[in-house]
Amino acid sequence: MSAAIRLANIGTVLVVTKEELAESNTAYAQGGIAVAMGGDEDVRLHLEDTIAAGDGLVNREAAQVLVEQGSQRVEELLEWGTAFDREGGTAAGALLRTREGAHSLSRILHANGDATGREIAVSLLRHVRGIENIELMEWATTVDLLVEDGRVVGVSLLDGEGGLTTVLARAVLLASGGAGQIYSDTTNPAVATGDGIAMAYRAGAAVSDMEFYQFHPTAFSMAGAPRFLMSEALRGEGAWLVNARGERFMERYHPLLELAPRDVVARAITREGMDGEVYLDMRHVVGDLFARFPGISKFLTKYRLELGRDLIPVRPAAHYLMGGVKTDVHGRTSLPGLFAAGEVACTGVHGANRLASNSLLEGLVFGALAAEAMEGEQLGVGSGELVVGVVAPRGEVATGEVATERWIAELRDLMWKDAGLLRDHNGLERARRGLDALAITMPRGLFRRGVEARNLHVVAGLIVAAALGREESRGAHYRNDFPEHDAVGLHSVMVRGELRFMA
Ligand code: SIN
Repeated sequence: MSAAIRLANIGTVLVVTKEELAESNTAYAQGGIAVAMGGDEDVRLHLEDTIAAGDGLVNREAAQVLVEQGSQRVEELLEWGTAFDREGGTAAGALLRTREGAHSLSRILHANGDATGREIAVSLLRHVRGIENIELMEWATTVDLLVEDGRVVGVSLLDGEGGLTTVLARAVLLASGGAGQIYSDTTNPAVATGDGIAMAYRAGAAVSDMEFYQFHPTAFSMAGAPRFLMSEALRGEGAWLVNARGERFMERYHPLLELAPRDVVARAITREGMDGEVYLDMRHVVGDLFARFPGISKFLTKYRLELGRDLIPVRPAAHYLMGGVKTDVHGRTSLPGLFAAGEVACTGVHGANRLASNSLLEGLVFGALAAEAMEGEQLGVGSGELVVGVVAPRGEVATGEVATERWIAELRDLMWKDAGLLRDHNGLERARRGLDALAITMPRGLFRRGVEARNLHVVAGLIVAAALGREESRGAHYRNDFPEHDAVGLHSVMVRGELRFMA
């Protein structure tokens, strides 16, 4: 939406989305949006924190752009009516800021307590709906990119009725978010199936850093309950982590305790969790926790739990993919005509581990920059012929719904078990063989879940290949058999089945 708003000044924009436009990882982001609005020193510290969290792999140029341009983008949001929380709850009050893991100071704006992403998505959507040049196509599934002479000239998609259509365009921007549905345990909504990455890869685009999947340390953990996010802001406001013996354990893992970088906290919880449940403990925190975290509190009510009264059981869940379609800071991919921004893209801004609350800012900043670059694109000749893709031929019998769901569940389970938070060669090889076996029974036919199943398979394959190739531990990628860092930090890049490591 950040890109569409700008592109509408120079032409017509079609925004295609699988469900309603607001249904995205953005809308589920709770804790907030990190932004340095206090001048040079503030910007410098935000840059330093982003680089430190990224564990030696952050692209400094991208991080600099993010922290320097972030405040302009947030000012714009304020102009468009985004209601961040303020002192005294009035429009005249100063903006409230919280702190999260690996931030050196409180710089995270929030809205409606713990519904920051929804407020941003809704206010952007309100703005988008008022712009004549933007056409929204909701409940449509993009199937593949159309490529002609090495240039992306449009997309093929299944419209609301399931009919296959092609759309030609001067430029295509992937803003399709993450791929949490690769894993059986995820904080991501059902739409996060890595479609953009799979489409770009099939079309021949380079993807990068796919082994770096961030596991959020504290998703709700109860049999039969969803892995609902227990925001990092809970720890920012003082929550402790305690193990089954009631011990506060983070001092054994990192000097920043509960506010250590996410990868460190997630691994610590996994280790402590081997001996029983791990809990968030806010019983010592004073203040109205229901008012500060209304969404989380309402969710917990369903399980008869209350933040300031009870221990809240938590465990890690797949949350954010640092890797993605390789781009420069203007969203340019390796394919002419194709751009990417947000979680689907890999500018290198997060390195091997994203700093908490940098992702909402990422979408705003890099979406706007991609739009600038897209303005220069000219309309290709565009025959509209589908020249890439794995789309099943028309008329082929589609795999049934139940079989498709079973197939997807199998993929998600094997990825969780063997390509999750703690990895080693044997497990990753098992995952690779499991994916090879699943390729034989891949769901067939042109329907949304079939398309998603094939995309999940592509993305899972990329994650496993890159994770096998990286024989070191760094950021979110932890190899039990290679627990140390290599001296030099290199990025993994994959194009058409060839994996390379480069600076
Ligand atoms: C959270 O509220 O903990 C999620 C924010 C993020 O993923 O950065």
